Amino acid sequence: MVFQGIELRRIVEGEASLLVPSTSTVSPPSSPVFYNPRMEVSRDIAIGCLRAYHKMVGRDLKVIEPLTATGVRGIRYAKEVEGVSEVIIGDVNPLAAELAKRNVELNGLTGVVRVEKAEANQLLSTMAKPGSRYDVVDLDPFGSPAPYVEAALRALNSGGLLMLTATDAPPLCGVYPRVAERRYGGRSLRTEYCHELAVRLIMGFICREAGKLDLAIKPLLSYSLEHHFRVCVLIEVGASKSTFSFRYLGYVEHCPRCGHRFLKHGIATALEERCPLCGSRLLIGGPLWCGPIQDRMFVDQVLREVEASGFRHKRRESSLLSTIVEESQAPPLYYTVDSLSHRLRSREPPMTSIMEELRSSGFQVYRTHFHPKGLKTDAMINDLLSTIARLVKIGADDEGYQAYQHP
Ligand SMILES: C[S@@+](CC[C@H](N)C(=O)[O-])C[C@H]1O[C@@H](n2cnc3c(N)ncnc32)[C@H](O)[C@@H]1O
Ligand SMILES: [Zn+2]
Repeated sequence: MVFQGIELRRIVEGEASLLVPSTSTVSPPSSPVFYNPRMEVSRDIAIGCLRAYHKMVGRDLKVIEPLTATGVRGIRYAKEVEGVSEVIIGDVNPLAAELAKRNVELNGLTGVVRVEKAEANQLLSTMAKPGSRYDVVDLDPFGSPAPYVEAALRALNSGGLLMLTATDAPPLCGVYPRVAERRYGGRSLRTEYCHELAVRLIMGFICREAGKLDLAIKPLLSYSLEHHFRVCVLIEVGASKSTFSFRYLGYVEHCPRCGHRFLKHGIATALEERCPLCGSRLLIGGPLWCGPIQDRMFVDQVLREVEASGFRHKRRESSLLSTIVEESQAPPLYYTVDSLSHRLRSREPPMTSIMEELRSSGFQVYRTHFHPKGLKTDAMINDLLSTIARLVKIGADDEGYQAYQHP
């Protein structure tokens, strides 16, 4: 089928039937309207979040998705989440808005889902007054969500839900720290735990944007998957709550020599210059969010929603969410077994052996969804290195032995 010069094909995602460009690929310039089938997992989890949120607040929900492309996200929210009474989807690209309208009609949602051909910030700003605000805003842009966060916060009701995607991994993961400073107001670091730092940078940015408006954030769920990051936070109104949430802002300090790392709470705090373990100069990342990045009860409910669903990728989604439930109580800033073994120039012992050994020494230890070989633990780097050295039987004559004996 050809629509406004675009070759279309029919697909089914979740309960929605959609027309999407036949040429649709992940790279924007090659498709006149963007549709990425690999983001179905992210959309399914977002549906789980909305279902969990609806149960939490117990009232009908008005949702806005101002960067919609084919309309798939907003249409699925209207079709698949009980209690979603109204959805506005928008896109600045006229072809996208036209196609989204066709998809709304195709799904019998005229009257529930409204399509706007509009710039996202302009659309959001029309909702930024009492009586016009929405319960949920989902920002799903190309690259960084930063340009839309303030308008999204203004368009939300008290107790509203902000969900967003960031796909600008190179700045957030320390490849372009200056770009992260510009976009998120915080420096990124290129470390083995950069995916967690990316989420913390995004949350730190949302917290500061919220602070300007006397709003506070409460993180509910965050994850990294393939090339993107997703963050889901509750927005609360009140100057004192906002001031309180600023206590969770701070910095990460990282020793590039021995691998020691820690979070330092406080946005205007004195920072350590030297590593307490080896005396080397520390690298500083942030400001970023140092507080909890998951709400165990919320993630647990999202997991239950996904398990009860008919999503075709539900095994993968459940596995991701189960790991997040587990790690929700874990200490921050994970280590990876490959980088620890690399420091020791040793082979990698199995994850399970390291975890058992650490537990038997009295440490907390959890896996993390951020990295397949990641460990969240209250053990320090030296404890981790000596545990691995014991497991692989590194002796005093071995090259890597010095790495943890005399960092
Ligand atoms: C990543 S795509 C959205 C994907 C969609 N949410 C999904 O789940 O498939 C981003 C969309 O934002 C649109 N866009 C880019 N800048 C915009 C702006 N300032 N205002 C509104 N739409 C914009 C693009 O045309 C594109 O369709
Ligand atoms: Zn050090």
